[in-house]
Amino acid sequence: MPITTIVFDAYGTLFDINAAARRAAQDDPRLASLWPRLAEDWRRKQLEYTWLRSLTGAYADFRTVTAEALDWALAAQGLADTDLPARLLSLYDRLDAFPEVPATLQALQRRGLRPVILSNGTPGMLAQATQAAGLTGTFDAILSVHPLRIYKPHASVYALVEAATGARPQSVLFVSSNGWDIAGAARFGFATAWVNRQSMPPDRLPQRALHEIPDLSHLPRLIA
Ligand code: LAC
Repeated sequence: MPITTIVFDAYGTLFDINAAARRAAQDDPRLASLWPRLAEDWRRKQLEYTWLRSLTGAYADFRTVTAEALDWALAAQGLADTDLPARLLSLYDRLDAFPEVPATLQALQRRGLRPVILSNGTPGMLAQATQAAGLTGTFDAILSVHPLRIYKPHASVYALVEAATGARPQSVLFVSSNGWDIAGAARFGFATAWVNRQSMPPDRLPQRALHEIPDLSHLPRLIA
């Protein structure tokens, strides 16, 4: 079955999650040297909390989880009780898209492919992020886990794609920078492309990516 629908993860795949801490560090000496560590802790805790909340049935939305993870990451640096949470969360609402995103989406659409977002983000966060990146109206659908009250990589999340767009799993290429998200999507039955920007080793999980690309600009050629 030919690929008709390209489903993108949002945070880390379309949007540069490190941009919030990097930007804040530009005019805040407290973050000058520690922003990369802060960004890494923030992301790792954010993902851990999504998995733990899913396992324990204690869903809280992605905005809450993101704020709680940031609180931990700032506390680890002795910076919890400051103005930084509000500043960093507001920057998280308008992250940069990676530079190749607009041209890649246009190239896919010229070929008649349908771009879709499938993300842990709340509908509000995703609307804000796509608007800030100048991508409003670009996607055929923007799908959030929020109505399911469970996070990736639960299979019910990947099933949202067919429920919302009618695209059969065999006609979907799923694109993510997260190895564990690729594994979940492959297990569900999607073809997968892992965006490996940092040349990391593949995750030791049962499903490996069908394709591996260094950034999204390689996607149109891959599909051709
Ligand atoms: C998302 C997270 C996993 O956008 O990056 O779903």
